[in-house]
Amino acid sequence: MPCGIVIVDKHLQIQYFNDFAGRFLNPDGEQSPPEKLSDLVFNTTDMHLFDMDDCMKNMIASGKRNFHKTLILKNDKTERLVYLSANLFVQEGREFFLFALSDISDEMDCVTHSPGTFGRGEYLISRKIIGRDEKVRDNYRMIALAADSEVNVMITGESGTGKELVADAIHELSERKDRPFVKVNCAALSETLLESELFGHVKGAFTGAYKDKTGKFEQADGGTIFLDEIGEISPALQVKLLRVIQEKTIEKVGDNQPIRVNMRIVAATNQNLRERIKKNLFREDLFYRLNVFSIHMPPLRDRKLDIPLLSEYFVERFNRSTGKTVKGLSRQASQTLMEYPWPGNIRELQNAIEHAFVLVQGSLIETEDLPSEIRYFMKAESPTTLTEASAKENENSGIQKTRGGQLRISREKLRAALEKHDWNQTRTAEYLDISRVALWKKMKKMGL
Ligand SMILES: Nc1ncnc2c1ncn2[C@@H]1O[C@H](COP(=O)(O)OP(=O)(O)OP(=O)(O)O)[C@@H](O)[C@H]1O
Ligand SMILES: [Mg+2]
Repeated sequence: MPCGIVIVDKHLQIQYFNDFAGRFLNPDGEQSPPEKLSDLVFNTTDMHLFDMDDCMKNMIASGKRNFHKTLILKNDKTERLVYLSANLFVQEGREFFLFALSDISDEMDCVTHSPGTFGRGEYLISRKIIGRDEKVRDNYRMIALAADSEVNVMITGESGTGKELVADAIHELSERKDRPFVKVNCAALSETLLESELFGHVKGAFTGAYKDKTGKFEQADGGTIFLDEIGEISPALQVKLLRVIQEKTIEKVGDNQPIRVNMRIVAATNQNLRERIKKNLFREDLFYRLNVFSIHMPPLRDRKLDIPLLSEYFVERFNRSTGKTVKGLSRQASQTLMEYPWPGNIRELQNAIEHAFVLVQGSLIETEDLPSEIRYFMKAESPTTLTEASAKENENSGIQKTRGGQLRISREKLRAALEKHDWNQTRTAEYLDISRVALWKKMKKMGL
């Protein structure tokens, strides 16, 4: 069989392994075969995520099979990602475990790193996450490990770096994948609305509560809840969230009946929460509860090697959605993309390619087809910052960005921008190159 088979008794004593397992685990073939499974497999770097004893007990209790993805450090010091399937069987009253192991390192590489291999294999979710820069390779490993565990995960990174994609992947690769995945943007709602959104309410709990409402926590039962922009939640809600994590129960607004919930929390933020803790804006105890496992998405400017790969991927995607047959970017256009600092990260790159698709004439995207702020950035003779470049461009339109990237815009201009996009906030935010939340806040402040 083209996979490794190892049979152990319940003391992990190895009773049998096939040639494949022998070669895989002991490639130089010089050492004598190990006697216990723990001598062999559990050189994993993240052992705490895969506890053999627990796994065995679980199987005996439930009689079920058990699957794990785990890293194995082999004798030759190479590290491989392995898919382990463990089966319990009983023979003459004795319990044995049969482990089948397949090396999936290469598959994981293909689908996560190369846009040319879509549709291959079953890790479909990962095919959406493009990148092979070393900085993100570690992240793929972290995603796989996080998916395998039940712990809460915190994803950090600037806007547009792919935090939501990571949250999707964690859910999709986890055992909860067939249960709900519920997303909540904590910044888009006022404190009271957010509370009733998360916890639900009973009829009459407050003015306007005409009927009972099930909250997102309850909806996510058995699955995963994604709390986006977690840094924005109010101190009062932070306390309540902490209680949910500790007690695994919720109470609807206006009711004190505790309801049990079982969910995994994946949170994301583009803020520096440690700074917010120092300023007493975020509770430290809550932070540690959420940050059991953390994944940081690097900004695009720190993983420039991925720019060509990502551009290719987006070209392919827009070809499919628009029916065009663009081959790629001209040399000069590619060079431009490499030198631009991408403050809006991958989202901005995606928008730039989409923009170019509207203008492109031939089979290659030229520099002229790229959005003006990118062209301006390149044209400026003295080293200039993006914000200066785009401020220059927008001078006459009354839209400016401060050095910190904050948008300065008058109420009329904002209104005009919204009107131009039929009050579609996503498109307006993209047009102004700010996040939807930032736009939402601006609109709120200006009473729009
Ligand atoms: N590695 C990637 N490969 C392909 N597409 C990506 C990648 N990372 C991000 N994207 C795309 O970029 C866009 C932004 O990603 P996403 O929404 O996950 O970012 P985010 O970090 O949540 O941003 P924000 O903080 O603004 O909410 C999405 O359209 C996503 O599909
Ligand atoms: Mg997001």
